[in-house]
Parts: sequence; structure tokens; C-alpha cells
Amino acid sequence: MAKFLIHGGKKLKGEIEVKGAKNAALKAFAASLLFQEPIVIKNVPLIEDIFRISELLEALSVKAEKIGDRTFKISGNQANSYVLKPEISKAIRASIVLTGPLLARFGKAIFPHPGGCVIGERPIDIFLDAFHEMGAKVAEKDGSYVLEAERLRGAEIVFKNISATATETLMMAAVLAKGKTILCNAACEPEIPYLANFLNVSGARISGAGTHTISIIGVKNLHSKKPFITMPDRIETGNFAVLAGLLGDNIIIKNCEPAHIMIFLKHLRLAGVNYEKGTNWLKISAPGRLQAVDIRTKEYPGFATDLQAPFTVLLTQAEGKSLVHETIFEGRLNYINDLNRMGASITICDPHRVIVEGPSSLRGRETESPDLRAGLAFVFAGLIAEGDSIIHNVYHIDRGYERIEERLQRLGADIRRIK
Ligand code: EPU
Repeated sequence: MAKFLIHGGKKLKGEIEVKGAKNAALKAFAASLLFQEPIVIKNVPLIEDIFRISELLEALSVKAEKIGDRTFKISGNQANSYVLKPEISKAIRASIVLTGPLLARFGKAIFPHPGGCVIGERPIDIFLDAFHEMGAKVAEKDGSYVLEAERLRGAEIVFKNISATATETLMMAAVLAKGKTILCNAACEPEIPYLANFLNVSGARISGAGTHTISIIGVKNLHSKKPFITMPDRIETGNFAVLAGLLGDNIIIKNCEPAHIMIFLKHLRLAGVNYEKGTNWLKISAPGRLQAVDIRTKEYPGFATDLQAPFTVLLTQAEGKSLVHETIFEGRLNYINDLNRMGASITICDPHRVIVEGPSSLRGRETESPDLRAGLAFVFAGLIAEGDSIIHNVYHIDRGYERIEERLQRLGADIRRIK
């Protein structure tokens, strides 16, 4: 297993480019199953989760071919099975997104409980309930879910919680359903209108994506007209902004959309990190003194849960006490004990809340990347710590960030991958 060796304390300088969004590209791969022809997806990040969803599709006889630099051609039209391979589905949460298109296309889907990062319970009751509302029979057999519906029918679906992947999955299922579907209490993450626009260009009739109420009028089929160009990853953007706030000297973040992380940026400024922005770039000034600020994660457009761990690392360097309230996932503060072992002073109040007292000097240590987002936060902790750190289980980081060590090295970071 690969690990990162980090020597902390180096100042960083220069430019860093944001790659395509994992959580947008994965959904476009799944959408390929709705089409009559192959689709082309551009600006795809070359990360492990993309390789896993490609393998899942290939097991359904779909070709996921890399035809250019970050450009993939996906022949979802060639799919000949509705059974998701359990070993791979259990490795990525996004496997659940394939169920909507499979059900729409074949009238059947068989799949195990999806896996992914261990950040909480991650149930799928919202999906199953919604498929049921659309006329599907939902059963469990030999450890797998079995969904069946001759043709899904439109329905009014009220999500009990806001869920990004449930919104995307049901939106895709409804595109080819009979009649009109209304998704109430839908998620508003920017990846959702992005996907809806792509489907609409291809013949779908979706309105309201990006708001809490989405209407979809079912159509007979979708035709590939234009490539899906993956939007920039807003979580990478936020991470690089945190890193620049910790160690940077006027770092420029390119190919990003600051408009997608406005509330996060507001908190960054409140913590003492200043920035300038354009429509597709951010310049983070050399930080002066950092100060405590409370954060509370929230569905979009709120403070993204995926940015909570790196921001907590930043707060260990801020003067005063900050409350971090993680409202989305109950396991997303599991990395705190490791930060404390590096010298942070963080009190765990309950599974959802911690108080960070800073500033504290971190010392390099050996840790294990517990999940994708906390994994990169440990890299940042290692980069600001005194001495050497080793981070094991780098696979978790590779799931969502493309060759991160090479990109950080270009900013001057002392980080190496060792096998
Ligand atoms: N929930 C339910 N029942 C369900 C589904 C979700 O109760 O059937 C609850 C969850 O337990 C959680 C809340 O709803 O408390 C929100 O979960 P959501 O379904 O929105 O999360 P997700 O769709 O599984 C996506 C991203 C996550 C990101 C969250 C929140 C993908 C593949 N994953 O997950 O990204 O943290 O939305 O924005 O798009 C990551 O990329 O590292 C990651 C975990």
C-alpha cells in the first residue's frame, strides 16, 4: 500500500489548477445508461473512484474508453445487464446512482448496499422509498436489493432529508418514466443543475434543478448531442484555499468557480484569510494571524461537509476557540483524535461537535487516512507540522484527488509517495 512521507514547515508558492469534479463526473458516467448512443465526458479527473465506476460499467458490458486527455467515451447504450457487481459497488457510494438509470432502462436493478467512505451510517431508505413511489417493487434477496418496475411512472416524491445522490438518482430515473415527477425537498448542489442541463440538451424535460423543487416530464429516449464537460471540483478549490491560508504566499488557484463556495469563503475571510477572486480563479493572500470562527456544515449553499476536515486543521492554527458542528454525517469527526495526537487541542463534545482551541504547534506523526476528505486534511496537518509525518492508506486520498502529491510538490511542498 502506498503512503505519503511529508516533511512539514515549508512555505508554498505558485499556481495550482483545479481538476474536474469527482461528484459531477461520476453522475455523468451513470447517466450514460439512459442514452441511445455513446456519450463523451470531458475534463474527467483521473482518480480511483472514476476507475471504479468504469469497472462497474464494464461489468455491464459498457465500454468506458479514454479517448483523449481526460476525455472518456462511454457506451452506456451497450449495457446488457442490470446487476451491479457487489465487490465494486461496495467500494464506492456513487454506485447507488447507477440504480436509477438501470431501473429506467431495464425495468430492473440488483445491487448490494453501496460502500464508500466510513463517515456515518449512509442509509439508502430515501432511494428505496422514492423508487417505490414511482411504482417499483422493492425486495431484498441474498444480501442484495432487487428493484422491479415494468416502466417507472411519474410521482410526487417528498424526500424526508435532503440528499444529493438521491436527488440525482431519482432525477435520472424520472427522465425516462411515464408522466410527470416532482422531487420535493431536493438537494441544490451545483452538480445537480449541471447534470440536468446536460440531460436537457439531450432531450430530457427537467425544470427547477438547483432549487428544492424539481419537475421532470418523462420522455421516450435521450440522444447524445454534446459532450458533458465536467465542472471544476468545488471541494478541491476549498481545500487549496485552506492550504494557501495555512502556508501560502499569494497562491493562485486556477480553473475553479469561486461562486460555488461563497459561504466557505466567507468563513475563510472571518478566520483571517483574505482573497481576491474572478469568475474562474482565486488568489489567496499571505495570511496574517488566523482567528477562531465557528462553522456549521449544511447542505448547499451552506458550508460543505466535505470541507469540514481541512477547515478544522486551519482552526488548529487560529487564535481562540472555534466550534465545529458537523450536521450531515455522524462519523465525520472521527479523525479528531489523530489531530490531537499531533498536538492539536480539540475537545470532542459529542459525535457532531468539537471545540478547537488554538493556535497549537503540530508535530509530525504516523497516521492512517481514514476517509477521502480527512485524508487530505492529514496531509495539510503534516505540511504545517514540525518534523516528519507518514500517512498510510493513501488509496483513500487517490479516490478523490488526482496525483495530489505531484501538484503539491509544484507549490514547494515536501511530500513523497512511497510504495
Ligand atoms: N440520508 C438518509 N437516507 C438516505 C440517503 C441519505 O438518511 O437514503 C442522509 C445521510 O445519512 C446524511 C444525509 O442524508 O445524513 C445527506 O446524505 P447525502 O445522501 O446527501 O449524501 P450522499 O448523497 O451519499 C453526497 C456526496 C458526498 C457529500 C454529500 C453531502 C457523492 C457521491 N457523494 O453524498 O461526498 O459529502 O453528498 O454533500 O456525490 C465525498 O465526496 O467525499 C463525499 C462523501
